[in-house]
Amino acid sequence: MSSLAVARADHRGPRYVEDVIRAAVVLTMFWGVVAFLAGVVIAAQLVWPQLSFDSQYLTFGRLRPLHTSAAIFAFGGTALIGTAFHVVQRTCRARLFGGAPLGWFVLLGYQFFIVTAAASYLLGITQSKEYAEPEWFIDLWLTIVWVAYLVAYLGTVLKREEPHIYVANWFYLAFIITIAMLHIVNNLAVPVSITGSKSYGAWSGVQDAMIQWWYGHNAVGFFLTAAFLGMMYYYIPKAANRPIYSYRLSIIHFWSLVFLYIWAGPHHLHYTSLPDWAQTLGMVFSVMLWMPSWGGMINGLMTLSGAWDKLRTDPGLRFSVTAVGFYGMATFEGPVMSIKAVNSLSHYTDWTIGHVHSGALGWVAFIVFGTLYYLTPKMWNRPAMWSVRLISWHYWIATLGIVLYITAMWVSGIMQGLMWRAYDELGFLQYSFVETVAAMQPFYMIRLLGGLFFLSGGLIMAYNMWRTIRGEVSASAVAAPRAIAA
Ligand code: HEM
Ligand code: HEM
Repeated sequence: MSSLAVARADHRGPRYVEDVIRAAVVLTMFWGVVAFLAGVVIAAQLVWPQLSFDSQYLTFGRLRPLHTSAAIFAFGGTALIGTAFHVVQRTCRARLFGGAPLGWFVLLGYQFFIVTAAASYLLGITQSKEYAEPEWFIDLWLTIVWVAYLVAYLGTVLKREEPHIYVANWFYLAFIITIAMLHIVNNLAVPVSITGSKSYGAWSGVQDAMIQWWYGHNAVGFFLTAAFLGMMYYYIPKAANRPIYSYRLSIIHFWSLVFLYIWAGPHHLHYTSLPDWAQTLGMVFSVMLWMPSWGGMINGLMTLSGAWDKLRTDPGLRFSVTAVGFYGMATFEGPVMSIKAVNSLSHYTDWTIGHVHSGALGWVAFIVFGTLYYLTPKMWNRPAMWSVRLISWHYWIATLGIVLYITAMWVSGIMQGLMWRAYDELGFLQYSFVETVAAMQPFYMIRLLGGLFFLSGGLIMAYNMWRTIRGEVSASAVAAPRAIAA
């Protein structure tokens, strides 16, 4: 058997459910472009507010949740469903539990959730809870889909032919189970009428705030972090063709991460009416989180030891490795921002937005890009991506976009925080609020430029994927060494 045939045999065959994964790959790319475009639109609105054209459907307040949900749930969530099904089948050497029908139900049911949620935001139907905006009837639908996702995943793990449960599965499972728990508890509500779109939440006052941020921070911890770590633990060793640096460290990483994350939510509520001890608890656990986070980062990066040369020839892998670097950066910055004295400056400012996007663009989007560049040729049985040169272009354009975005937000955020707290010698505020807003404008323009770069990179990738899927082969693709490795 040639090495190409070995690679194909490993990745294809009637034994596995694959059409669902192929559809998820295409949908992920589609939602990525939608999310980046929505980000660019709201970034432009922050520079030129008149871009809402006096239409209620185009106000910043409605488009912002459209952007966050498109990015986290549509782009990130679809990538996670597709890769979870890919990883669990291969590492367990078992066909997806429930087969293609259950797989399709999860993927398409989830797409239906995304589309209804997006439409409801534009119509102004919302619970007004950040990252949990959909109203009760959409939440109920998502619960059904999510339970089906858990059944498919866990069912596959239970009927595995491989005795060991590979560590990536632990991360994906923690994500699926914890998100179910967070979603149900945070969205408990009483509908005003069975046909109406309005409901009242079960929680009120400071309990509501605490549960919302227990949800919100663990959406970061389990959706945007743990699940993508599952991706890291499978696809980086695969693409680098090396085992994980330390399997023992990956287990320690897993248990310490899931144990610590769940307590950190109160750092979103510093200096509020939440009891002081709870705020301090959130801060302490956030600072402790730095350790497992960096343990995981080191594990991901060291997997490349002895294979660093691959970064020169494989720009897809470069995305994944850079993603791990950004993961380390965001998880260093987060604990620093959770310290109350620092948060008193950073909270409510663009510093938070800079932190969010160093994680969202640098870690989440980059690890997805690296994974899709690995997965696309494999799933369509192509020797490699259509153009390796375009992957390289994408890498540099997107990296430049991130650098512009996050540095602009750090400078504007720290400036904003300092302007808000500046007093003159008589004890009056030195700047009016509107002066601080005007000072932001140049930085908002730089952020917009960064967003445009990032979006252009996404379009280049979509084009490259399309040519690859159509089965076209370019000279640069044939020369790519990863074509026949792994
Ligand atoms: C072209 C790329 C992107 C651009 C231009 C962009 C732009 C923006 C803008 C302008 C905001 C509103 C900031 C504010 O209210 O002051 C925002 C918020 C947000 N974006 Fe993005 N974004 C992009 C990509 C992404 C991606 C890929 C993700 C997630 C994977 C993401 C997640 C978020 C989140 C979670 C927020 C809310 C942050 C908060 O409330 O603190 N964005 N984005
Ligand atoms: C050890 C890890 C991390 C810690 C301790 C941490 C801590 C924090 C803190 C203190 C804030 C500001 C809260 C505020 O002032 O309102 C924040 C905001 C945020 N972080 Fe992190 N962070 C971590 C990693 C990450 C990563 C990897 C991402 C991923 C993509 C991320 C996404 C976010 C988002 C979306 C927000 C904005 C929430 C909102 O207000 O809407 N964080 N984080």
